[in-house]
Amino acid sequence: MRIDMYKNILVLPGDGIGPEVTAETVKMLKAVAEKFGHDFHFRHELIGAAAIDATGDPLPPKTIEAAKDTDAILLGAVGLPKYDQDPHATVRPEQGLLKIRKDFDLFANIRPIRLFSPLLDASSLKQEVLEGADIVFFRELVGGIYFGEPRGRNVARDEAWDTMRYTKDAVVRIARMAFEAARRRKKTLRSVDKANVLECSRLWRETVNEVARDYSDVALTHMYVDNAAMQLIKNPRQFDVVLTENMFGDILTDEASQIAGSLGLLASASLGPGVGLFEPIHGSAPDIAGKGIANPIASILSGAMLLEYAFGLKTESDAVWRAVSSVLESGYRTFDIKDTTTTDDKIVGTKTMGDLIVSQFPRISV
Ligand code: IPM
Ligand code: MN
Repeated sequence: MRIDMYKNILVLPGDGIGPEVTAETVKMLKAVAEKFGHDFHFRHELIGAAAIDATGDPLPPKTIEAAKDTDAILLGAVGLPKYDQDPHATVRPEQGLLKIRKDFDLFANIRPIRLFSPLLDASSLKQEVLEGADIVFFRELVGGIYFGEPRGRNVARDEAWDTMRYTKDAVVRIARMAFEAARRRKKTLRSVDKANVLECSRLWRETVNEVARDYSDVALTHMYVDNAAMQLIKNPRQFDVVLTENMFGDILTDEASQIAGSLGLLASASLGPGVGLFEPIHGSAPDIAGKGIANPIASILSGAMLLEYAFGLKTESDAVWRAVSSVLESGYRTFDIKDTTTTDDKIVGTKTMGDLIVSQFPRISV
């Protein structure tokens, strides 16, 4: 067979449902390679609690070395409750994820909120509110309160502090990416901040206005984050491309997942100057880990984003989105997207959902 593309993929399954869902994505990527004549090589390494248990380090040097030497990174999820319940834990699974984002300068986190029409009933929001909603978030990922110094804790004084910090350059580069995306879509961009209170947000707004001068074909609007949280649920169709800082983006995208129906559906791409990292927006869901019931679609669609953004394989990526759509159209559901209005749902587990999606490929024309 003619090999079109030879690529290395580093798989970091992580914790909780991470290993189960990424296994389905690896299966999907192998099927894509076979159908389209590519050669993908997979290497697995540790991150998060799994890495702490094995090495004491949430991002071991071996994982960093592997990440330097790959064409794309597929990540599952990180986090375990035993760390959440211990406020004094000095190493935490999440540090592994934050460190890899920072080390590889993955400043742009792209989170599309796409509606699958068969799933309109899976959302707790009214169908007429949701119909036609299609949003893409550009979340700044290596700045803001997640990383700002100083941060600390004074136990004796029962006091703790974090710092939100942004440089103009950090705002410019994510804003440019969002404006470029807006140009390719509906030519509107909404920037979300809290400029009525935060100095960082005033810098943010000023800078976005400056960048806007290079994009006079894009209509820019600003919105405060509290209002944006409300408007997202009230009328999601008013949003198209949304640009925001790290923590606002974290919170708003979990909220926006309810527009798509479930957190179990949302994929993301984290991009920077070098290798890209692709991960679902959901966490490690320890409550359902190991049961074989987690929804693998968010991870599989992260794999689709990997094909598009890391390898430029748009046709292959579209084929994955269509495969997911057609499985949902056939009525198959994982429990998180169960249709509550009927009883004839075909509820399947993680592995079966992965198999069903892969089984679409021979039938998808390109
Ligand atoms: C996300 C997650 C992470 C974040 C956690 C696990 C550190 O919630 O990717 O949205 O807050 O960025
Ligand atoms: Mn989050």
